[in-house]
Order: sequence, then C-alpha cells, then structure tokens
Amino acid sequence: MIMVKNSCYKIIKSRKSVRNYKRGAKIPDNELNKILNSARMAPSSCNTQPWHFIVVRDENLKEELSKCAIKGTRINKWMVDADIVVVLCGKPHPFLHRGADLLGRDCHKLDVAIAGEHMVLTATELGIGSCWIGWFSEKKVKKLLKIPSNVNVISMITFGYPEQDGIIEEREFDGLRRDLGEMVSLNIFGNKGVFFE
Ligand SMILES: Cc1cc2nc3c(=O)[nH]c(=O)nc-3n(C[C@H](O)[C@H](O)[C@H](O)COP(=O)(O)O)c2cc1C
Repeated sequence: MIMVKNSCYKIIKSRKSVRNYKRGAKIPDNELNKILNSARMAPSSCNTQPWHFIVVRDENLKEELSKCAIKGTRINKWMVDADIVVVLCGKPHPFLHRGADLLGRDCHKLDVAIAGEHMVLTATELGIGSCWIGWFSEKKVKKLLKIPSNVNVISMITFGYPEQDGIIEEREFDGLRRDLGEMVSLNIFGNKGVFFE
C-alpha cells in the first residue's frame, strides 16, 4: 500500500473547529490563495459556481460580524481573533436553480457549502484552523457588507492560526460522533447493514 503523507482521510481526521486564535498571526497571501482556489475548484450543480467569497480582514468589520449573532447573544465573540472571516455568499442561477427550487432542491446552498468545506480542509492541511459560523442574522451581515438583495449569505468561516500549537493533529471520533451503524442503512431506510455491527 502506498502511504500518502497528507492523505485526505488524515486531513479529515485532523480537522476540528478552532475558536482560539493567535491574534495578529497573518495567513500568507499564497496560502490564502490556495484556500480560495480550493473552493474555486469545487463541484457545483451544472457547474453554475453560484458563489462569491468575501474575505474580511478589517478589524472593525470582523468585530461587527461577531456582533451579528442571534439577537441578544455574543456566542461568536471570539471571531475577532481569527485572521480572516470568509463570508460565503450564494447567488442562485436565474434558470437552473429556480428550476431546482420547484422540485424542492435547494442546490445552490449545497454548492456553496461544498466549496466552503474545500477551504476548511485545505486550511487544515496548511496548519490553519477554521470554524464554520452559522449562527448569525443574515439581514445584519448583508447590511454591514453591502451585499446585494439577490445574493444570499449561506455561512461564514473563520480562519487563523490556532492559539495552541499542535492542535491540528489526527484525533479519534469515537464518543464525538454517533456510530456508523446508527447513520447508515443497507438498501432500504432503517435496514441495518452487517458491515457496521
Ligand atoms: C453549518 C455550521 C454552522 C456552525 N455554526 C457555528 C457557530 O455559529 N458558532 C460556533 O462556535 N460553531 C459553529 N459550528 C461548529 C460546530 O459547533 C462544530 O462543527 C461541531 O460542534 C463539531 O465539532 P468539530 O467541528 O470540532 O468536529 C458550526 C458548524 C457548522 C457545520
């Protein structure tokens, strides 16, 4: 068997949400470029690439974004310490995504989420920590960053160097995630597969 140093599986096992960042530690441009390019190469429905990424590095804007959490909470206060916050925007295709919507398929959000996870995994490979941010008021973020009304804010992701060195290393998920047998069926929903017992 060929051993690949940074195999995809190993990177997936190393990723964890990082909420403590080294303040002022800058991600070099070439690495930021690699992270953004990995999103660019993501698959999307009909190759529509319905995304736009806003890289927020301005200290005041990061502070304001951290205040866009759900009313009355400051759960994401720590966001200000991350070097950058990438705001993942989605612009549904006027024909293809509207058509998918009629079938109840919200493909453009899936597309943007896949691109976001590409960034997260590339960052992990580079030793850069990240955390998805889903608890925010879209209305407030749109107003703050002057995002047009036909563009949605799907999510945000913080990126930066973890405060604690060595935090990006493989970990075991037993106890952190439900068992595979609980989340996989064989052929028909609910059928237990013999593979996972
Ligand atoms: C779509 C999404 C939204 C999330 N929103 C937040 C958030 O607003 N604040 C936060 O601290 N963590 C947020 N998280 C991180 C999750 O809490 C975290 O992924 C989960 O607890 C599993 O931990 P792990 O990422 O370290 O494996 C979010 C994750 C996802 C995928």
